[in-house]
Amino acid sequence: MNFHVLTLFPEMVLNGVNTSITGRAIRNNKISIEAVNIRDYSNNKHNKVDDYTYGGGAGMLMQAEPVYQAYKSVADKIPENHTKRVIYVTPQGEQFTQKKAAKLSKYDDLVFLCGHYEGIDERVLEEVVTDYISIGDYVLTGGELATMVMIDAVSRLVPGVLHNEVSAETESFHKNLLEYPQYSRPEVWHDKKVPDIILSGNEKEVEKWRLNQSIKRTKERRYDLYEKYKQYEMCLDKLKEDKLNHSDMISLIDTGRAEIVLKAEGEYLLKDIQTNIYFYCSLNDKYTILQLVFDCVSKTANLQEKTLNKIKNIRKELEKIVVHGSKAKKKLEEILSNSNIKNLTYTMEEFEQYVYTQNIRLSIKGMKHPRISGNVVENAQDQLAKIQLKKYGLDICSDIEIFDGENFAKMTITAIINSQKDEKLLPIIWNKSANNAIIKETIKNANGYKSKENIIVFSLSLA
Ligand code: ADE
Repeated sequence: MNFHVLTLFPEMVLNGVNTSITGRAIRNNKISIEAVNIRDYSNNKHNKVDDYTYGGGAGMLMQAEPVYQAYKSVADKIPENHTKRVIYVTPQGEQFTQKKAAKLSKYDDLVFLCGHYEGIDERVLEEVVTDYISIGDYVLTGGELATMVMIDAVSRLVPGVLHNEVSAETESFHKNLLEYPQYSRPEVWHDKKVPDIILSGNEKEVEKWRLNQSIKRTKERRYDLYEKYKQYEMCLDKLKEDKLNHSDMISLIDTGRAEIVLKAEGEYLLKDIQTNIYFYCSLNDKYTILQLVFDCVSKTANLQEKTLNKIKNIRKELEKIVVHGSKAKKKLEEILSNSNIKNLTYTMEEFEQYVYTQNIRLSIKGMKHPRISGNVVENAQDQLAKIQLKKYGLDICSDIEIFDGENFAKMTITAIINSQKDEKLLPIIWNKSANNAIIKETIKNANGYKSKENIIVFSLSLA
């Protein structure tokens, strides 16, 4: 991940991020940070970059040209195949959250533009900025501190920046719950004893206690988050009514990647926040959500403005939607062909869905993981599997990607299968072209079901 900061105070940013964990990540080449002084791109001998605001008004404005040239100096160096965002940090932006940090951590390059004075000439913002982000409802003297906050939060989600990668998953905000209380030595401090369960060594009980504490704490301190958490739990309960067919959606929620975008009686529309792919399920064979999203005017007539706006935003963004089974496929085809949306075309692909549980144990003892130093032993299976699950994106429709050789893929899949708790399911969906014998053999040895319904991916275009 490469961060580029366009600022009038480069040393402020560099001093801020060169220490602690971000500093270590820079030295270990996990992230890179450059700070470009916008003043270096001023076109006058006094290095002035601000001027009066047309139409009057208090204070000075940063001019378009120096900002644009500073941006160009960075953008021209970023390779074309890199994914990038250009962020203007401003109190007028959307609120920065853990979810937004997770999304941003997937890009190759992030360019931050820091404003000063009364802001920046609107024209250059229109030309270069992709995201307007605020770190909160208060006004700072400039964008540098806000940028440092975002760089810190995004960096720690970049693989290898935190040494213990699973900790980013279990901590505050994962699944909309705050983190549970934690204790270290000594066992008794100021007459306060560490709870007995924590000392019991019973992993299952400890896990249960921690979850309950997380729920209690969230309810007390952040009722807004608690309500969200309950919503996701309700969604999970519903999806589990047809567990085998909805294992992909269940796993999206379990790994904290799902956003519930719309719900109706017995219907859910989720979005995978990492890929922006939408997932839809109907448990009652009604397809109200699909009809609304793909414009059946009579249905939208008595909708609240808030819902209508949501639907409009979905339409703007939606490129791929996953549905389960032949009924949903037929229904969606029918709806799309009757849609009022102009120039709507689609292509469709069908994938077989296989679901595996852990019943057969294959050994991965002594396995060497190329990105984690040391041997991976059995009790590390869980952690490894979590990391791999993320890395391979195995929980969504994708071919299994092998970049470390077949044996590594085999061991990875084995580890993932082994790590699944009984009640959890691992959906592995792959298309027939991923004809890799060793993977198939590995999976065959595990306890698998082919779920009743195939998964169908509709790719939409509004050309
Ligand atoms: N610049 C000034 N105030 C800000 C804020 N709250 N968030 C992001 N950038 C800012």
